[in-house]
Amino acid sequence: MHAALSTPLTDALGCEYPIIQTAMGWVATKDLVTASISNGAFGFLAAAVMDPAECEIELQAIKAATDKPFGVNIHAFQPGIERIIDLCIDYQVAALSYGRGPNPKIVDRVKAAGIKCVPTIGASKHAANAVDMGADILVCQGQEGGGHTGATPTWLLLADVIDQQLGVPVIACGGFKDGRGLAAALTFGADGIAMGTRFMMTSDSPTPQATKAEYIEADVLKIPVSTKLDGLPQRMILNQTLADLENASKLGMLIRAIQNGFKYRSQTGMSMLQTAKTAWRMASQSDMTVAQTMMAGNAPMIIQKAMVEGRPDEGVLPSGQIAGLIADLPSCEQLINGIIQDAELNLKRVAA
Ligand SMILES: Cc1cc2nc3c(=O)[nH]c(=O)nc-3n(C[C@H](O)[C@H](O)[C@H](O)COP(=O)(O)O)c2cc1C
Repeated sequence: MHAALSTPLTDALGCEYPIIQTAMGWVATKDLVTASISNGAFGFLAAAVMDPAECEIELQAIKAATDKPFGVNIHAFQPGIERIIDLCIDYQVAALSYGRGPNPKIVDRVKAAGIKCVPTIGASKHAANAVDMGADILVCQGQEGGGHTGATPTWLLLADVIDQQLGVPVIACGGFKDGRGLAAALTFGADGIAMGTRFMMTSDSPTPQATKAEYIEADVLKIPVSTKLDGLPQRMILNQTLADLENASKLGMLIRAIQNGFKYRSQTGMSMLQTAKTAWRMASQSDMTVAQTMMAGNAPMIIQKAMVEGRPDEGVLPSGQIAGLIADLPSCEQLINGIIQDAELNLKRVAA
């Protein structure tokens, strides 16, 4: 293997290659993580959308399939977070990833257990703070990236964070799919790449075929960022559901939110009155309208329509712009081997 492919990232996480498979709700489940880590990448289980019991079943399945190291993604405010942290320690996961960090007590506990902290940042001003709060590795996701995303393009974010010389490995994320990208990121001074959309678009991901077909058809310029789903900027494929959300007036949003509240009330376990009260409380504490906060409460169900039930027209499809350049569904083995071969060729070509 080309020496440039052994980096501070592979040293820190114990994986073969400097490639991270990021967490994606309802996508980065045991099957995808097992396939990515068995083939030399480092994978994160998307536990931010799981309860502790589900998370434990997934951890057991991955551990039963391989002894390769992997990580868990959490959300600081998810229900059962303390128990999920216990599980990470009991099952000796290698790393914890997150956007908004857990509290300092949790960070101290996981670090004492030898677990590396791997936050994702979307703006360079957050880099030093993330390291002060315990980051061992920084994943820098540029605006091209999928799901919730910032406003700085990948290469500009990366340059700014690398130049801060914070003493931790820096990982390029947002818009990667191949060995050229890996070689370019390493040459640029990053210690590896992290990919979401490309790993979702493999035969090993659990995403239903009908939904994958929509990603194959996607156009780079029709994967916009919208705040209409949950109030935060999120990149998604522009399908009819997203177009309707984008075009809805304030009253239209409220009607849609109420309709969804009825539709999904068995899944959220909340009555309409409870939903409205919660939305009112949240709205009074933020810049969001009541309709927006009600929509935010339904966002997980709307995403699952596409990502779990295989009804892409009725749901939304979080995606990086890179989906517009992806037209195949390789296995993780084919994908990772291809990336490594291609990166080596490119590194040698430039050196020559
Ligand atoms: C379908 C999908 C679901 C995602 N879900 C999550 C999530 O649950 N938690 C999270 O931290 N990031 C999530 N993300 C963001 C990815 O982890 C990753 O940071 C992003 O996709 C990187 O950009 P790329 O798609 O260009 O590789 C999601 C992304 C996609 C495409």
